Amino acid sequence: MTDGFAELHVHIEGTLEPELILALAERNRVELPYRDLDDLRSRYEFTDLQSFLDLYYANMEVLRTAQDFADLARAYFARAARAGVTRAEFFFDPQAHTSRGVPLHEVVAGLSDAVAGAHREFGVDAAMIASIVRDRPVPEAHEVFGELLRLGAPIIALGLDSAEVGHPPSLFEDVFARARAEGLHITAHAGEEGPPEYVWQALDLLGAERIDHGIRSLEDPELVARLVDESIPLTVCPFSNVRLRVVDTLADHPLRRMLEAGLSVSVHSDDPAYFGGYVDDNLAGLKDRLGLTEAERDVLRRNSWDAAFL
Ligand code: HPA
Ligand code: ZN
Repeated sequence: MTDGFAELHVHIEGTLEPELILALAERNRVELPYRDLDDLRSRYEFTDLQSFLDLYYANMEVLRTAQDFADLARAYFARAARAGVTRAEFFFDPQAHTSRGVPLHEVVAGLSDAVAGAHREFGVDAAMIASIVRDRPVPEAHEVFGELLRLGAPIIALGLDSAEVGHPPSLFEDVFARARAEGLHITAHAGEEGPPEYVWQALDLLGAERIDHGIRSLEDPELVARLVDESIPLTVCPFSNVRLRVVDTLADHPLRRMLEAGLSVSVHSDDPAYFGGYVDDNLAGLKDRLGLTEAERDVLRRNSWDAAFL
């Protein structure tokens, strides 16, 4: 069961590969503003989180039916299995779909159908995390959470993602309190582009059990001490950090410093179709560029299991 890696920080919409974008556009007769695959691929150059999010949300236009979401998730599970992933706790962004008129039940039906067969079909034990899109209105977060409950969506946790700076965790205290009352696990993106203060808020106001990214925590020694003391897992995404220019190069990535500080870090892919690869690719990159050893790799692997919501 704990062989392989637990992938804990992957956005299912971020696994939408360019080829599938074009195939779904054709199937759903969606007009895309790209001439062809090469033209689409030429857009995958980012200057910050927002420049990525613009393309990420635009490309979701092709996802319309339960079948599309099921096909997306199955393609991901197949690729994840090849990466050595045996558990995948993946995010989805309900508001990214409801806000453009796709009924939430289509999203949930497609994803949960793929999840139900993932172990049998791919050897991947899969689970869903609904993520609040933090740059959308707070009342909408409450509405969509209520709808997830009414649908009986098989989610294990509530997360928080999208444009971080200017959208602090404190805004969402009440919706996360509801999630905790429902017995859901809590995780939140914090300290990716945003300050250490947002990590404190995620812990103290949202009740986050793990922190997604969290790399800016290193700027605050008191916060590092807290994260170490409480063994709060940080789900770190090296390729993402480089492609979104949170760190300059893979060779400069603070992963080893984080391990040396005693933080519980594990390595994940975030949006693998956008950032250059899946969890195996991230690990290979770290080996090449950071000299990640076999022993360190095994620590990351074990940390991924300790951090899983099992
Ligand atoms: N950060 C914040 N929100 C996101 C990301 C990310 O890296 N990917 C998809 N939504
Ligand atoms: Zn993420």
